[in-house]
Amino acid sequence: MDTSKFFDLKGKTAIVTGGANGIGKASCEILAAFGANVVVSDYNLEDAKKTSKEINGNGGKSIAIDCDVTKDEALVNLVDKTMAEFGSIEILVNNVGGGGAGKESPYDIDVEQFKKVFEMNVFSMWRLCQLVAPHMEKAGYGSIINMSSMASINKSPAISAYASSKAAINHMTRNLAFDYGPANIRINAIGPGATKTHALSTVLTPELEKAMLKHTPIKRLGEAEDIAGAVLYFAAPISSWTSGQVIFVNGGGEQTLDM
Ligand SMILES: NC(=O)c1ccc[n+]([C@@H]2O[C@H](COP(=O)([O-])OP(=O)(O)OC[C@H]3O[C@@H](n4cnc5c(N)ncnc54)[C@H](O)[C@@H]3O)[C@@H](O)[C@H]2O)c1
Repeated sequence: MDTSKFFDLKGKTAIVTGGANGIGKASCEILAAFGANVVVSDYNLEDAKKTSKEINGNGGKSIAIDCDVTKDEALVNLVDKTMAEFGSIEILVNNVGGGGAGKESPYDIDVEQFKKVFEMNVFSMWRLCQLVAPHMEKAGYGSIINMSSMASINKSPAISAYASSKAAINHMTRNLAFDYGPANIRINAIGPGATKTHALSTVLTPELEKAMLKHTPIKRLGEAEDIAGAVLYFAAPISSWTSGQVIFVNGGGEQTLDM
């Protein structure tokens, strides 16, 4: 068995949405460390540029592109600019997602707010898959990684928009695997448990952390690089016969906001 190419991403180009911070940033860093050209895309261009600079300072190759995933013209521009800069796209990490945080009681939000969560979490991912697939097919290599959540399978109050949008990502991923498989494009999803990023810091308290750890066999919360490890597995040739899967990276347990 020749293991030398299992994690080799040299010559491949990866787009990471929401790549400036948190899980997206760690994903950019790990993909660059294993040789990929990385497009750090984010609607916070200043932070995206910082992340890209750090990667390049560590010997990687990356650029920053301004992209709000809820705007179709920004998604088209992201793909066009990536092709102009690097000439191919082999990896897409559909990482942006938001909503939830226990603020989605149907008594408090309206249907427009519910729609917005699906636009950000589901529609943008589907559309970006559609835009990158022809380039991946041409490149002869494609791996799409969609960021889901433990919320996609947990059941809690005041999180119905976020949780159902993440559940939609899981099943969209399983179904798109059939559409894209014949073109040699794999598509998988990752469901992080509670992971220490800015997003989590807006809701985490010491009491909540303690409650979460009661239901977590590995006695700590996740770090962004824990999730990035799964991104690397799906992006790299080692997983070339893995598609339509959802992997939960959660310390072996579950962490919800209402424990
Ligand atoms: N942190 C967790 O505990 C956790 C748990 C489960 C799932 N997730 C999922 O992981 C993904 C990343 O979360 P995170 O915790 O790293 O978040 P984060 O807040 O740390 O970082 C999110 C990044 O995305 C960017 N962003 C936000 N909206 C955007 C938009 N519309 N267009 C472009 N960029 C945008 C932000 O500027 C930021 O750089 C999300 O899909 C989230 O649902 C996170």
